[in-house]
Amino acid sequence: MNITIPRGTQDILPGESAKWQYIEAKAHDLCRRYNYQEIRTPIFEQTELFSRSVGDTTDIVQKEMYTFEDRGGRNLTLRPEGTASTVRSFVDEKMHGWANQPVKLYYIGPMFRYERPQSGRMRQFVQFGVEAMGSADPAVDAEVIGLAMDFYKELGLKGLKLVINSLGDKESRTAHRNALVNHFKPRIGEFCSDCQERLEKNPLRILDCKQDAEHELMASAPSILDYLNAESRQYFEDVKTFLTAMDIPYEVDPGLVRGLDYYNNTAFEIMIDGEGFGAITTLMGGGRYNGLVEEIGGPETPGIGFALSIERLLMALDSQGVTLPVETGLDAYLVTMGDEAKKAGPRILHELRAAGLSVDGDYMGKKMKAQMKSASRQNAAYAVILGEEELAKGTAVVKKMADGTQEEWTLEELAANLKKHLEKEKGVSR
Ligand code: HAM
Repeated sequence: MNITIPRGTQDILPGESAKWQYIEAKAHDLCRRYNYQEIRTPIFEQTELFSRSVGDTTDIVQKEMYTFEDRGGRNLTLRPEGTASTVRSFVDEKMHGWANQPVKLYYIGPMFRYERPQSGRMRQFVQFGVEAMGSADPAVDAEVIGLAMDFYKELGLKGLKLVINSLGDKESRTAHRNALVNHFKPRIGEFCSDCQERLEKNPLRILDCKQDAEHELMASAPSILDYLNAESRQYFEDVKTFLTAMDIPYEVDPGLVRGLDYYNNTAFEIMIDGEGFGAITTLMGGGRYNGLVEEIGGPETPGIGFALSIERLLMALDSQGVTLPVETGLDAYLVTMGDEAKKAGPRILHELRAAGLSVDGDYMGKKMKAQMKSASRQNAAYAVILGEEELAKGTAVVKKMADGTQEEWTLEELAANLKKHLEKEKGVSR
């Protein structure tokens, strides 16, 4: 029997992994500029964390979690998202007592959902997400949205569409909830069994149902925006004012409800227009979750964040033909001729690497010509050629691969000279 990769997962191979590193470096740099700090939480958590936060009437909790019992009989789940774990840690570590508020955190890591795999929908995917906890200032909402927009823009994506909505505070949501129940109740028999169950438990979830999306009652369902109380309406206005001031265009979509239960007030998604992207056009989602910290056992604390997957980002970049400026190629490749030079190779490579250069040499017993081929195939800027004669003199011939020019340097000055030349050529310091 052949062992194959699990459905809905992927190997990220050399070449592709360089793009991931570039994207991750961009996320780290952007978070540094926005003053968000990295948090790393476990890949698995107690199952109850997710049923309580994401919500036990959501598709994620009902159908998509990888849940198992460990050998000690504990009920654990591979995290389907990062917000719940971040909030759990916030509570565990009493971050509400930290001097700097709001606490601004970010994460990059794998998440797991048992979904029907299709392009842009994986069973293991990597989310980059940020969470700001401790402030109910609408300026934080705009900051979080601004960070996400900057991330995509700086990577070169075009055709981004920011869609926002307000889900209101508790009072507004209760009024909307009652209106939804009244709207769907008379004809709930026409909906799927999940929706029937959701009617009393959480009618907002009906609006998010994939199966009944085309039912005529969906389009005519009461809009949350008609049920916002004065405070929620003002909050939403303030967020929009900040976005406008920051030159971030948006569309309001009263139908945007998000697939997780913990949201209130601001909810948002970034979509992408464009052909060749397939059915999935949502790149990123997030929103405010003012009751979540309390739900997980902490003090009443407002919070907001977003998450996006790197898989969908890469698809979007691909569909727009954006190539990332990933650096490929070696600084130098060591070519040796003769036994003595071959024996001296490892020491020279070791010294060049210690000096910060990316270098490689031959371990396959290749002849000089084949070694030169390796140098050019691996895109080396220089070939360092070491023969018996040079070795005896303590020198090496250094060939610039781009134009074939050669110089002879002593082995002592080799590292420093290479660095000087590379710096001059690339205009960057190494
Ligand atoms: P979400 O909308 O469930 O929200 O997921 C956020 C993003 O994760 C999606 O927009 C998409 O980019 C990516 N994603 C989700 N599922 C998959 C999948 N199966 N395959 C590939 N990518 C996927 C959350 O997870 C919230 N925790 C976001 C948040 C943070 N809200 C507040 N803070």
